[in-house]
Amino acid sequence: MTTIFSGIKPTGDLTLGNYLGAISRWVRVDQHRADAFFSVVDLHALTVEHEPARIRRLSRRTATLLLAAGLDPQVCALFVQSHVDEHTRLSYLLECVATDGELRRMIQYREKSARARESGEGVRFSLLSYPALMAADILAYRTDEVPVGEDQRQHVELTRDLAVRFNQRYGETFTVPRATAPPVAARVMDLQDPTGKMGKSHADGAGIVYLLDDLDTVRRKVMRAVTDSGRDVVYDRAARPGVANLLDILAACRADLAAGAGAGGGGGGSDPAALAASYDSYGALKRDVADAVVGVLRPLQERYARLAADPGAVEAVLRAGAGRARAVARPVVDAAYAAVGLLPAR
Ligand code: AMP
Ligand code: TRP
Repeated sequence: MTTIFSGIKPTGDLTLGNYLGAISRWVRVDQHRADAFFSVVDLHALTVEHEPARIRRLSRRTATLLLAAGLDPQVCALFVQSHVDEHTRLSYLLECVATDGELRRMIQYREKSARARESGEGVRFSLLSYPALMAADILAYRTDEVPVGEDQRQHVELTRDLAVRFNQRYGETFTVPRATAPPVAARVMDLQDPTGKMGKSHADGAGIVYLLDDLDTVRRKVMRAVTDSGRDVVYDRAARPGVANLLDILAACRADLAAGAGAGGGGGGSDPAALAASYDSYGALKRDVADAVVGVLRPLQERYARLAADPGAVEAVLRAGAGRARAVARPVVDAAYAAVGLLPAR
């Protein structure tokens, strides 16, 4: 059986980008076809300045939203990273396999460390070592596939390099994983700045649809999306990024709705280039995008409200998920400790 692992940081409220770029596929496809592990990777949220109360709140909210989106704890393991010690245990070994040079080459490190330096904050050492922890997340489960958005591919490539290097030096221990990406909307762009990704950590929310935004706000944000000069609706990501983003969002929402209705997804009207041909104005396109996004978010928000009213039940799900995760990760990490020459503790 294939094993899948993916994680999401509790650093902000989840956006439509997180949903269409990642969560939708975890729910619709991944959890049903594999041994699937999904983690709220809270330790990764500590690599930049953070407020303890906010991390706590966002960790709970993120887990609750993942359940509301349809992750089924009977089918997959949903857990909080810091509840399973094996991640940090393995991370150290991988820091001993990674080189300073390859960690410094990571695009995310370069961007985030430059930002931290500009704002006069120190650059936390954990920001540099972050990919070793992410590699540990993945390798501890002998993961085959890592469904992530494009921005995470480089980290998964590094994970592969570390797995291969470890196996060569110390004997076959890890499965070499690969990144998998959704066919459309691998990168949902900001509605106000379609050249930048819709990210949950942005300050200004006008171009960002949050999963818990009230539905009138969602509609308004879509209707006010920046479009390109020109009037005809064509799908051209380079020359018409605003319209292409709307078409991507429409296609991805339709695929999600079709999959939710049991139609298997992918079919009926979910190719962005083909969709372009059925519009002759930006206004009509935006109205349909708004309807599709609201159609996806309404049931999700209803389930969220029910789950959030019973936090004890969500905690029980997370505890059980951590138990399942630990049972798989522990022997793998023990094997890695033994392989590098550490004496067994048990
Ligand atoms: P993050 O928000 O960076 O913790 O990302 C969580 C997951 O959502 C990762 O798999 C990201 O690649 C994905 N993701 C985040 N933002 C977007 C976006 N705007 N478009 C597509 N995928 C995204
Ligand atoms: N680094 C990922 C992000 O910023 C989150 C993450 C942490 C992750 N560990 C992971 C994703 C393991 C996939 C697999 O989005």
